[in-house]
Amino acid sequence: MSLLVIGGTGTLGRQIVLQALTKGYRVRCLVRNLRKANFLKEWGAELIYGDLILPETIPPCLKGITAIIDASTTRPNDLTAMKKIDWDGKLALVEAAKTADIKHFLFCSALNAEQFSVIPLMKMKKRIEIYLKKSDIPFTIFRLTGFYQALIQQYAIPILEGFPIWITDEQAAISYIDTQDIARFCIRSLQLSKTKNKIFILEGPKSWLSLDIIKLCEELAGQSANVNQIPIPILKLFTNIIGYFEWGQNISDRLRFFEILNIKNKFSKSRVDLYKIFKIDKNEILKLEDYFLEYFIRLLKRLKDINFEDIQKQKNLIL
Ligand SMILES: NC(=O)c1ccc[n+]([C@@H]2O[C@H](COP(=O)([O-])OP(=O)(O)OC[C@H]3O[C@@H](n4cnc5c(N)ncnc54)[C@H](OP(=O)(O)O)[C@@H]3O)[C@@H](O)[C@H]2O)c1
Repeated sequence: MSLLVIGGTGTLGRQIVLQALTKGYRVRCLVRNLRKANFLKEWGAELIYGDLILPETIPPCLKGITAIIDASTTRPNDLTAMKKIDWDGKLALVEAAKTADIKHFLFCSALNAEQFSVIPLMKMKKRIEIYLKKSDIPFTIFRLTGFYQALIQQYAIPILEGFPIWITDEQAAISYIDTQDIARFCIRSLQLSKTKNKIFILEGPKSWLSLDIIKLCEELAGQSANVNQIPIPILKLFTNIIGYFEWGQNISDRLRFFEILNIKNKFSKSRVDLYKIFKIDKNEILKLEDYFLEYFIRLLKRLKDINFEDIQKQKNLIL
């Protein structure tokens, strides 16, 4: 089977590429910047130029391909292009896949997108799901919760650097997940035909409140966090206004994210079913505690090494 990954340079996409190569798949990556994507080539993937904004660049990328994993989305610094990428680009991709007689199309969607049509990206995700289902291409849709990787930026780094963290006073919790585990589900899906023409919700093993994540980071960092809490009703009232400020952007995004992820989803069958279908041992799913522990150990070791290098340099200068 030859696989085309879109979004291979992204947080999730790179894990998919790595695991697919490890499993022996021939992997081609559609990328819009060949230089930036060079690390994927070094791993063993084939790079091909393509840009979802330029639909004519898509069909040549599909030559000789049997399956597609689409883990692409608009980058936060590119939001004006969102419609062109997450809507027009995806429609062009599905059309090209139909013409190329693709045997399996995996699409990364978002949890509860169907209930948040007021948020443009969620509306596009939902509509692409529908479009893909109607296309007659065998598909698997993964509705994803938030990634562990995003929590580093959101909590770990501000705590380490002493910056304020803005949170809501929400009591509901989010089941974040590691991208390596999502990648495992994606690759396993390619091997299991019974996952075709189905939608799966992928969540992590445990639900977390913001304050619990902060507490965990404080313990691991050995530093206290500077936490500012805003009650949700007030935040909802002011979300458009505070969105104009840098700190407010952060929290108003978080409010939307929080709202999306916390709606009780109707599709969430027992997680045990999911593990059984994908033949994945649930004990192998990475816990957030272990993810953070590994991050902090690596970081503290790096800081120690830098400190050691500085001392060596100073010694060399004195000599
Ligand atoms: N992050 C989350 O917490 C979360 C939660 C739920 C669902 N999801 C979904 O999971 C998937 C992966 O998310 P992520 O956070 O890993 O994404 P990401 O890190 O932001 O990466 C986005 C990827 O899309 C590529 N891309 C953007 N515009 C493109 C274009 N015009 N043509 C071709 N490629 C383009 C980027 O390429 P460049 O490197 O060239 O920019 C990059 O490889 C997405 O579908 C996302 O909506 C994410």
